Amino acid sequence: EKGGYDHYMLKEIFEQPTALRQAIAGRIDPIEGRVELEGLSIPDGFLEGVDEIQFVACGTSYHACLYAKQLMEEFADVRATVEFASEYAVGSGRNPERTLVVGVSQSGETADTLRALRMASRVGIRTLGVTNTVGSTMARECDDALYIRAGPEIGVAATKTFASQVIVLAMFALTVADVRGELDPRAARKLLENLQDLPGAVQSVLDNNDAIEEVADAYAGGEAFFFIGRRLGGPVALEGALKLKEISYDHAEGFPAGELKHGPLALVTEETPVLAILTDGTRPDETRNNVKEVQSRGAPVITLAAEGYQSDDEVGFDVPDLGLLEPLVANVYLQLFAYHVADSKGRAIDRPRNLAKSVTVE
Ligand code: M6R
Repeated sequence: EKGGYDHYMLKEIFEQPTALRQAIAGRIDPIEGRVELEGLSIPDGFLEGVDEIQFVACGTSYHACLYAKQLMEEFADVRATVEFASEYAVGSGRNPERTLVVGVSQSGETADTLRALRMASRVGIRTLGVTNTVGSTMARECDDALYIRAGPEIGVAATKTFASQVIVLAMFALTVADVRGELDPRAARKLLENLQDLPGAVQSVLDNNDAIEEVADAYAGGEAFFFIGRRLGGPVALEGALKLKEISYDHAEGFPAGELKHGPLALVTEETPVLAILTDGTRPDETRNNVKEVQSRGAPVITLAAEGYQSDDEVGFDVPDLGLLEPLVANVYLQLFAYHVADSKGRAIDRPRNLAKSVTVE
């Protein structure tokens, strides 16, 4: 049932092109620059009047929200915030009638996320659940549900669902932008074209699997691993670190690249590989300076870089031209990197110690 793969995680990483095609199927019209998300009953008048969209989620889904927040603010020009579901509290100054809470959960059963949504609901805030699981508690309890259609995910490490969550939220951002009269047709068409090209771009990363395995094996002995990226690269840096620590049990941390010099740089040595995201939407020129900072301290660097940001004298992988979705493609390299580091150590990749696929306790 693992389809010839050694682990569900690897199978699910390789299922991403299919999952992504399913997520956009019938929902986008790149020529008109429009999105049609079925089944959403949020009245236009409500979306027009919303003054804050709050995303609540945990773990990988939280990282998808950090990515989506930036797209929402850029495309729909509406204030968007992201909170750990376990930390959510209804603020006193908020107008419930002008707030939308978006819960994001692969399983739709995460207790922390359900609790946050119930708290919002109780004070009259409208809720939208974005999930992979039809019929889940989240889908049933929210005012609206939007499905990411990634197909079942068995490995405890969330992989294919991350990219699917981000692109469904990207489509939702375009919907909100359209209703609010903020849609920039050129930018929307570009994003939709990028969405269409994403499965192929992800496939090109998967075709590089052997090369990533070699690099992962070469660096697996690192004392700790750091991941850096700016803007849309920030959530991907956090996600890369989460994936690696979760399945390899190595110490890994993600930082917004600019924060390195405010503390974490003290940890950087020749024994701490640094993985850097240098693509569109991540201010790559500035991150390049941070890469130089860690290189001058002897740290080995692995870059995930779009054309123009690569350097011949370092280990790196190319990210194809895909605009604001380039960091999502870089993330697939990080998933494979984590997988191969963990595999080289013989870890229980699909069932890492102390963790559950669906966390149903608060
Ligand atoms: O089902 P959910 O998306 O609500 O799960 C949230 C987290 O528990 C989950 O993403 C967790 O962080 C993953 N194991 C990370 O790979």
